[in-house]
Amino acid sequence: MHPHVEKILLDEAQIKERVLQLGQQISQDYKGESILMVGILKGAMIFLADLVRNIDVTTYFDFMAVSSYGAGTVSSGAVRILKDLDKSIEGRHVIIVEDIVDTGLTLQYLVENMKSRGPASLKICTLLDKPSRRKVDVQIDYNGFSIPDEFVVGYGLDYGEKYRNLPYIAVLKPEIYQV
Ligand code: XMP
Ligand code: MG
Repeated sequence: MHPHVEKILLDEAQIKERVLQLGQQISQDYKGESILMVGILKGAMIFLADLVRNIDVTTYFDFMAVSSYGAGTVSSGAVRILKDLDKSIEGRHVIIVEDIVDTGLTLQYLVENMKSRGPASLKICTLLDKPSRRKVDVQIDYNGFSIPDEFVVGYGLDYGEKYRNLPYIAVLKPEIYQV
């Protein structure tokens, strides 16, 4: 275990099993279609990479990067596009892939933004959900895990851009968040 980690919330085996289930569910739901997975950078990268290897329908990729949080753990409320999609999503079956839905503000912005571009359908897939922190109502179609209100890192999620490469989802020791 990484020395900065206080506890592991979800270990590698738990994540692997759930990601497999989500992939199978998506494959079933989109049978005979092709999907466009829109990964939200950078947090969703690891989840997306594992998820799509469990999907057996034709899958295309695009990415968006938005900033809603600075280096810390508190939401700024504002969403800014750092990197937009490469191509039009008009007429495509789009799945937004997120690492975590917290207040829902980022996702609400993304959904409105993408809906305006005329996809054939739009669904949301998130690895983690913190329902207790929700400020706006967003419909999540595929959710890996609902977790308590704790700031987590690993499996793509960062604190100050660190810890994304941890293979599990963990809570850091309090002294790490304080500095
Ligand atoms: P909102 O509040 O807009 O936030 O739903 C979504 C974004 O906030 C970040 N976030 C976290 N990142 N550990 C993280 O590493 C967390 O516990 C956490 N909670 C929210 C994340 O970037 C997400 O896309
Ligand atoms: Mg972050």
